[in-house]
Amino acid sequence: MNDIFSGELVRLSAVPSSEIARAYAEWNRDSEFKRFLDSDPVRLYSSRGIQAWLDKKLESEAENFFFFNICTLKESRLLGDVNLDLVNRYSREAFVGIMIGDRNEWNKGYGTDTLRVLLRYAFTELNLRRVSLTVNGYNPRALRAYEKAGFKPEGRLRENLLREGKRWDEIYMGVLRDEWMAGWKQ
Ligand SMILES: CC(C)(COP(=O)(O)OP(=O)(O)OC[C@H]1O[C@@H](n2cnc3c(N)ncnc32)[C@H](O)[C@@H]1OP(=O)(O)O)[C@@H](O)C(=O)NCCC(=O)NCCS
Repeated sequence: MNDIFSGELVRLSAVPSSEIARAYAEWNRDSEFKRFLDSDPVRLYSSRGIQAWLDKKLESEAENFFFFNICTLKESRLLGDVNLDLVNRYSREAFVGIMIGDRNEWNKGYGTDTLRVLLRYAFTELNLRRVSLTVNGYNPRALRAYEKAGFKPEGRLRENLLREGKRWDEIYMGVLRDEWMAGWKQ
């Protein structure tokens, strides 16, 4: 049996929250990264604040929040994180968040590989019916990575984002279980 948490380039793993917090505080200094990541206005957090937030979130939402660190398969280098938030247990829908923190690691296929691993886990272990996400309209890299992993555009919140005086759409994307299973090679 394959390792459910490994892809061709990455492994999903658990890294101590203190280590994550230190890395996040460093990555958060890159304001372009923050703009890509957040749909809220950009804010900065200390590593202590990040660790406290993460510890609380993981403890209080242990049932519904599936959080993984993304590490390179070869060197186990920490790249970022990905999570599945089970937003509706009855319709079996979860929402995805993903980030690779260091811009030198973008465009190397890690994000696409991560999402492929995550979707396999979502559909073949968690038995989800639908996986969704949103992406900021000024983030074509993320849009492309999501498309490659199997997400389809489903709609947009027009002019929902304000960045330096300019309005941008927020785009909804999703994958349905049946369409993903049809392309699954065991
Ligand atoms: C978004 C993110 C997860 C994608 O992961 P990644 O490893 O960088 O993406 P991949 O290398 O798997 O795929 C990127 C694709 O976008 C393409 N791309 C990059 N810049 C692009 C641009 N300006 N316009 C169009 N396509 C672009 C790449 O060429 C590649 O497509 P290809 O394989 O067909 O050539 C990662 O870049 C990231 O975390 N960025 C910062 C935070 C963020 O944006 N998070 C997502 C919030 S919704």
